[in-house]
Amino acid sequence: MTSTVLPTALTTPAPQTPADAPAGAAALAVALAIRTDLWADRVEYREQSRWTALLDPADVVPALDPSLHAELRDAQIWLLSWLPGQGTPLHDHGASAGAFAVARGTLTERVVARGTGTAARQSTADLAAGRVRFFGSHYVHQVVNTLHEPAVSVHVYAPRLTLMNTYRIEGGRLVRTGTERAGVDW
Ligand SMILES: [Fe+2]
Repeated sequence: MTSTVLPTALTTPAPQTPADAPAGAAALAVALAIRTDLWADRVEYREQSRWTALLDPADVVPALDPSLHAELRDAQIWLLSWLPGQGTPLHDHGASAGAFAVARGTLTERVVARGTGTAARQSTADLAAGRVRFFGSHYVHQVVNTLHEPAVSVHVYAPRLTLMNTYRIEGGRLVRTGTERAGVDW
């Protein structure tokens, strides 16, 4: 496992307000990740880039516990596959909060916290199948398949994903490099 020792608040991002506390999204992501029968036959792997697909909530609701139905109503669900070496740039999810669960393989997540007047703080952790991360809006991370087996993950966003800002670390600080928008860039 690759890991940098950092404060607990970084390694397990904590929601800050009820509206920004997507515990339900995390439960939904885990529930869908373990129900491989709902999506396994849809997964594709592409050499050129990560493969992504939207899951229709109507297709999964019969398989979910009723306690998750309210969460599902406002959620957007993505299924992603990652060949070794494939990954995202450093990015956030705009105003969307959410969660992702690793369903197959292992993904490495790098989390960057914006310091207030200080250098950005970073942590990196390998997330094996069964692990889940949940996050509030404006959470900045990078996810990469750094190992040797293909990986699959389930991502839940609420409200639905409309944009992602991309970043780089420059001089120890987080610098925005661009914005990708739904309907334009994906
Ligand atoms: Fe992300």
